Amino acid sequence: MNDPNVGRIVVETEELQNRIAQLGKEISADYAETPPLLVGVLKGAFMFMADLARAIDLPVEFDFMAVSSYGSATRTSGVVRILKDLDLDISGRHVLVVEDIVDSGLTLAYLRKNLAVRGPASLNVCALLLKDGLQRRDPDLRYVGFRIPPAFVIGYGLDAAERYRNLPYVAEYTGPEAGR
Ligand code: IMP
Ligand code: MG
Repeated sequence: MNDPNVGRIVVETEELQNRIAQLGKEISADYAETPPLLVGVLKGAFMFMADLARAIDLPVEFDFMAVSSYGSATRTSGVVRILKDLDLDISGRHVLVVEDIVDSGLTLAYLRKNLAVRGPASLNVCALLLKDGLQRRDPDLRYVGFRIPPAFVIGYGLDAAERYRNLPYVAEYTGPEAGR
């Protein structure tokens, strides 16, 4: 893309699609007896969710949650606000949370705690991207697409101040400090 804010590509389109196909197979095998309720975390996970779901050969159901992390522009504080809660009751359900990226792990720690008290039969997480070396807590991810270096990235659902979500690959962001 001819945009000076879009830096080097971190994960190419084809790598994304190949890895997502693998993840879909793993999930289909692991959940064969207990089809999951996929819970997408908006907005970042929308594109990953759409591709992952099509790679899962099971009668899955969908729900979405929207959260925003408070903190400075490019760092989360762990204080998370729910902007849109789930529509469905997850008690007794096998919940698989679909996340775009885990950075400090604080957003996920909050989400996990929030969902666990609702009594799901099981609660696991599938994250497309995991930033190396930044987690303040063990993120305990059942499925991870890619481990990436700790730079701010955009594309494939991920934004910098709401832009670049539609890039079909993941790239480093080289523009001015981006909000979340
Ligand atoms: P954490 O709480 O530090 O793990 O941050 C998680 C959330 O911050 C993700 O769900 C994203 O919405 C956002 N985020 C973290 N790193 C990036 C990035 O490199 N690009 C875009 N959004 C990010
Ligand atoms: Mg964001």
